[in-house]
Amino acid sequence: MAEPIERNLGLDLVRVTETAALGAARWLGRGDKEKVDQAAVDGMRLHLSTIEIDGVVVIGEGEKDEAPMLHNGERVGNGRGLVVDVAVDPIDGTSLTAAGLPGAITVIAIAEGRGSMYAPGPLVYMDKIAVGPEAAGRIDLEAPVAENLAQIAKANGKDVGDLRCLILDRPRNQGYIDAVRSVGARISIFRDGDVAAAISTAQEDHEADVMLGIGGSPEAVLAAAALKCVGGEIQCRLWPRDDGESALAADLGLDLHQVMTVDDLVSSDNVFFAATGVTGGEFLDPVAFTGEDRAETHSVIMRSKTGSVRYMFARHDLNRLRAISSLTLD
Ligand code: FBP
Repeated sequence: MAEPIERNLGLDLVRVTETAALGAARWLGRGDKEKVDQAAVDGMRLHLSTIEIDGVVVIGEGEKDEAPMLHNGERVGNGRGLVVDVAVDPIDGTSLTAAGLPGAITVIAIAEGRGSMYAPGPLVYMDKIAVGPEAAGRIDLEAPVAENLAQIAKANGKDVGDLRCLILDRPRNQGYIDAVRSVGARISIFRDGDVAAAISTAQEDHEADVMLGIGGSPEAVLAAAALKCVGGEIQCRLWPRDDGESALAADLGLDLHQVMTVDDLVSSDNVFFAATGVTGGEFLDPVAFTGEDRAETHSVIMRSKTGSVRYMFARHDLNRLRAISSLTLD
């Protein structure tokens, strides 16, 4: 007999990303990264404790300290439900929000079981390639870029010249830019936010075909959680910045050659993911403050067991929200 359908915890998680987005969006373009980040964390905290999970933060705001920052190792949820690992990025695109630029989102993912998510150590960067479901199984991080693009083009039914490759704008990714240009494929360079970029390769109404380049390790885990839900693929490998980090990796027994797959990053088959747009962009529309203390948000909720992807538009009455919570919305 089929198992009974469990509650979709993504529907709870989206309240977490919505309030984080509402908080962060108040700081749009005001030039203060710390305030953006703090507002997003505070917003996340509002609902996280109410969710029926027994969670431990694996991807958070860093190691434990005195600050109320959703630190790694922190217990979250009401402690009674599913035992899960939790990954949060209260805001992916802090600088974008502070600068008033598009592309920022708030993100959370949970996966059933302790140890079900890869916990990035001190190496903060990974080399990554991510694609949507059509090209899943056709990519190889170790293969030349030209080979990957040829495979992706075939899978997506396009000419190589029609491909659109997303690359994070950093000097360390210049090799990728050169390699893509040399085969005549198209590039969209983005300033920040490679979680949204990786996921957008799997969005049906989005023309992006692949994300390539070196970005944050925690962001790779969050992208893997979403791509697991929708059948996309991400491969990545730790990327030490210098000899010191290479030596540290050797001391810690980390394999710098290992190509990690979606299952290495998120091993559980029971995964829930939610994200809300903050500053808008191709992935999710921005928070809009529409007057009379009202705001609107756009979110996505994903679940691995069913493969469901829900886009959620919400209208918020900020006065009432403040009345029932400690949400300040400065
Ligand atoms: P934050 O907003 O959390 O700082 O991350 C933005 C981001 O662009 C990520 O999407 C990306 O993975 C990472 O920064 C890249 O790191 P860096 O800015 O150090 O190159």
